[in-house]
Amino acid sequence: MSKTITTFKEQKAKGDKITMMTCYDYSMAKLMDQADMDILLVGDSLGMVMMGLPDTLAVTMDDMVHHTLCVSRGAENAFVLGDMPFLSYHISTEQAVTNAGRLVKEAGANGVKLEGGASVCPQIEAIVKAQIPVCAHIGLTPQSVNAFGGFKVQGKSVEAAKKLIEDAKAVEAAGASMVVLEGIPAKLASIITDTVSIPTIGIGAGAGCDGQVLVYQDMLAMFSDFTPKFVKHFAEVGDVMRQAFADYAKEVKAGTFPDEEHSYAIDDAVIEALK
Ligand code: KIV
Repeated sequence: MSKTITTFKEQKAKGDKITMMTCYDYSMAKLMDQADMDILLVGDSLGMVMMGLPDTLAVTMDDMVHHTLCVSRGAENAFVLGDMPFLSYHISTEQAVTNAGRLVKEAGANGVKLEGGASVCPQIEAIVKAQIPVCAHIGLTPQSVNAFGGFKVQGKSVEAAKKLIEDAKAVEAAGASMVVLEGIPAKLASIITDTVSIPTIGIGAGAGCDGQVLVYQDMLAMFSDFTPKFVKHFAEVGDVMRQAFADYAKEVKAGTFPDEEHSYAIDDAVIEALK
């Protein structure tokens, strides 16, 4: 890690946008690091895009430790943020510090992310007191899917918008180093960004945030179970992969792969001696 929470604070002050991308394994971490990504988020979205679950609720601390360790081994310069899964921080501040500590000690995370606003401020304070940087996450928080009655854009009424502004101020006061704003109207996200001094990272929250995050399988068109409105395909990698798998299968069936170029040679004398 060469990028730190100080880097991101300075980026906000200079108006230099922060880039965050989800990441769940070593090879991807290396590619994203080489692309100079600022932050690799090992999101609990891995439950959906890596494990095929309908939502993030069943993801465990062990799942998060496993994937975060893979990512931190591949990240040389990027800041690695480990996500705290559902019910890994809700029960008590002790539980929150213990689990945040696992992501740092066992998995090499540089900071942790957790969902919620004012209601999780005691947990944020306790984790920060343990010297672990925290990224808060407000708006359409996927761990609240049942409480919200689905994946719905948040903050659309005056009351709901005011609550989100208060939540952003509360997590900043509790010591969070940054906050993800997910699934909220762009103009509201801009107001929140101007209100707090910590960087805001948007996903489905418009261009006014201090940075942006996307799930990599979404932006590479590798995941089609569910595509939210805010997802842009930056490359049709899913099509490229599907074609490559089909070409491989065709060549294996035809016996044209592997050819000489992709096989190991041996002296004829050795083969003769075997006869
Ligand atoms: O789990 C995740 O990947 C996230 C991002 C989408 C912000 O929380």
